[in-house]
Amino acid sequence: MINVIEILTQPENLSSQSILELFKAKGIDKDWSFTESKPSDTSKWTHGYHRYPAKFIPQLVEQLVVEYVSGRDVHINDPFMGCGTTIVTAISKGFFASGTDINKIAFLITKVKSTPLEPNYLNKKIQLLLSKLSFLDTASLPLFSAIEPLIPAKHLEKINYWFTAANKTELGIILQAIHNEDDKDIRDFFLVAFSHILKNCSIWLQGSTKPTRDFKKIPVKPYAIFKRHLNKMQRGNEAFFNIVPAKIRQHLSNRLNIQNGDARQQPVENSSVDLIVTSSPYVTSYEYADLHQLSTLWLDLSDNLSEYRQEFIGTTHKKYHERQAQSTIAQHIVSQMLRVSRKMANEINAYFIDMQEVFNESYRILKRGGRCCYVIGNTPLKGIEILNAEVFVESLQQSGFVIDRIIKREIPSKILPQARDDKTGRFASANKANRDAYPIEYIVIGLKE
Ligand SMILES: C[S@@+](CC[C@H](N)C(=O)[O-])C[C@H]1O[C@@H](n2cnc3c(N)ncnc32)[C@H](O)[C@@H]1O
Repeated sequence: MINVIEILTQPENLSSQSILELFKAKGIDKDWSFTESKPSDTSKWTHGYHRYPAKFIPQLVEQLVVEYVSGRDVHINDPFMGCGTTIVTAISKGFFASGTDINKIAFLITKVKSTPLEPNYLNKKIQLLLSKLSFLDTASLPLFSAIEPLIPAKHLEKINYWFTAANKTELGIILQAIHNEDDKDIRDFFLVAFSHILKNCSIWLQGSTKPTRDFKKIPVKPYAIFKRHLNKMQRGNEAFFNIVPAKIRQHLSNRLNIQNGDARQQPVENSSVDLIVTSSPYVTSYEYADLHQLSTLWLDLSDNLSEYRQEFIGTTHKKYHERQAQSTIAQHIVSQMLRVSRKMANEINAYFIDMQEVFNESYRILKRGGRCCYVIGNTPLKGIEILNAEVFVESLQQSGFVIDRIIKREIPSKILPQARDDKTGRFASANKANRDAYPIEYIVIGLKE
């Protein structure tokens, strides 16, 4: 039996064979399951503002922060922010926070979740908005309103596809009232609430992350749920406001440096970051551009969904001709997949090429002694085990990192992201999928020496 500690203390790079053996011998790290965390813990502060697939729990980020950084001017980065778990954690501690997400709605959610608003001011703004909209509580069709519904004309066809006429009008009125708000931070706060309720107000099959219509669904009336969600967000903001140091709140723009952009181009200087905590996309799993399309349509975030999709890492819409992933474990997986599906082999190859570039960028921005923590699970696709974590270890080494630690954690079923469909590898609703998605995942930690 290979001694895991022994391998990890070897200064030279691990060969692909010893990486594979290392993972086989690795036991579960029980302290990293966070089984004692309740939903009220995982959705504390602003963490419950917006649903987001495969978001990680704040407790995991907090634990990594406790173990790896201390001091006042710590800088934490996340190249795949998603709904901003890492960024919110960094701001809550008064650290510098930077990062990117290519998904426009992810950027908006992260910005709003990490911007504490003065509670009395926010309360006044919410009451004002709700008073303008309160007629929707009792209104029935046809709606005659002083507020002209704002329904993005160029997306009308798609909006009609997902929404009943009544909900479309009501949502349009709410959106127009939001746009009438002058304060951008407040407007963005309202837009996140608006974005969060869209799925419930549409005929999108509720438990599904795939764009599927459910003609039996009775969509929720927008105003009632919007009001409820705003109240929930208001409580979350107050708790967050109280935790963020006053000095940080007053000079937030000095601390928060986030962009809607690509993970391979971080908005920070060389050797400036202490810790990276992130969870990358998976190959051919979520199509983030598709699954957030209701928000993309209403908030008019993209004119061309198919171009937008191409920019996402892990999308099924990408391939690189004549380029091969650098990792030999990745190459082996791609050649196994070639025997089953050329298309999927190309997608996997493209995914690992893209991820290598992300690791190079992590290496560029970290200080010497800094660490990157990549949270990732392995998954079968068409009967072939896609050893993402093993590839990440090899690729991180190829980018210059020394592998410092590998944590193998169980994800308690109550916080399991979702289940996967064995054939397509896509996330599916729990009852449709034939196996759990990631009962196990890894935190692969690279050190820049
Ligand atoms: C697993 S999620 C991250 C979830 C996040 N840890 C959280 O707690 O919400 C992966 C994210 O990668 C983003 N992404 C995909 N391709 C990207 C790219 N090229 N550059 C930056 N972000 C990208 C997706 O939009 C998605 O938000």
